[in-house]
Amino acid sequence: MRVQQLYLYQFKNYAEHEFHFHEQIVCITGKNGSGKTSLLDAIYFLCFTKSYFVHSDAYCVMHEKQGMRIKAEFEKENSYQVQCILRENGKKEFAINELPYTQFSKHIGKFPVVIITPDDTQLITEGSEVRRKFVDILISQLDENYMRNLMAYNKVLQQRNSLLKKWHELADKDYAVLDIYDDQLNEYARPIYTARKLYIAQLKQKTNTIYNFISEASENIEIEYQTQLHQIELIELLRQNRQKDIVTQRSNYGIHKDDLYLTLNEMPLKIAASQGQRKSFLFGIKFAQFEILKANLDTTPLLLLDDIFEKLDEKRGEKLIQFISNQDTQVFITDTHIERLQDAFAGIEKKVQWIEL
Ligand SMILES: Nc1ncnc2c1ncn2[C@@H]1O[C@H](COP(=O)(O)OP(=O)(O)O)[C@@H](O)[C@H]1O
Ligand SMILES: [Mg+2]
Repeated sequence: MRVQQLYLYQFKNYAEHEFHFHEQIVCITGKNGSGKTSLLDAIYFLCFTKSYFVHSDAYCVMHEKQGMRIKAEFEKENSYQVQCILRENGKKEFAINELPYTQFSKHIGKFPVVIITPDDTQLITEGSEVRRKFVDILISQLDENYMRNLMAYNKVLQQRNSLLKKWHELADKDYAVLDIYDDQLNEYARPIYTARKLYIAQLKQKTNTIYNFISEASENIEIEYQTQLHQIELIELLRQNRQKDIVTQRSNYGIHKDDLYLTLNEMPLKIAASQGQRKSFLFGIKFAQFEILKANLDTTPLLLLDDIFEKLDEKRGEKLIQFISNQDTQVFITDTHIERLQDAFAGIEKKVQWIEL
């Protein structure tokens, strides 16, 4: 897949700007704050219907402006124009070839994308939420129902939690309402659990292979799906632990507690891995995401690589370039140092487009 043209209007630091991309490898250089990451985020936004970096669409609108518009020309077996308009009142509209979507989840996966950024070390260092987000980004591009189920699950979860809070002050509890919420959570959780189990198993196998390719090692990376649901259905858990939920005033069981347990040679990755091993792991898990998307979809995902050569040793850098240039897809790479990228791509046959911001 390719992006041939990108138009930005009031998106982050871009008042109005148009880019044309005409090579498979696009290198974007410029000093800090010049808009490299924002450019990648605009492409990501058009693929995924939201920013990779900020929770709220409003943060993507240029400061002191109202509304924004981004548009791109994608090329796969045909040409597609994808456009997002964020209206002044905050309403978001998404359209493909000028046909508006009613459900944004239908768009996700049509233009698959994998992004690697320096912040991704959070996958190793931070709490389970970051890892769930990673898994959700992967699966929602593969399975049209996944995002819908997840959103529905989260909505019921919120309602259930506010009911539990309300009950704290209420003597008279209507258990029938809780029964309904429990049934709904169970229904939405089931396909989410099944999908996570399936794709996390693939992730584990592929990450290990790529990790060892990048680091020229033969180490053992394990990615284990941690969930309360391996042995027992959610509805049973909810029934058994109802009193606990009522006392603590929140939902202690469900797929919102899922996590990935990451190990390197049987030790928790977070404490066992050196800086270099962490980098290799991140490339491993991200490129595994790329390979799973590629294998399951009819088009190869775009690769958006933000500042990946920063603090990367030469050997890993070379392996990375090797991996990237073997892929039949468009790759966008940013760097503050043009020389560093020029050196990295010096021995590569593929044509490279250089954009200096
Ligand atoms: N909503 C926004 N409105 C205006 N400027 C923004 C907005 N969001 C981010 N910026 C600014 O855009 C500039 C470019 O950011 P970024 O793309 O991260 O730069 P780079 O990756 O090249 O270092 C930064 O100065 C940042 O503060
Ligand atoms: Mg940046």
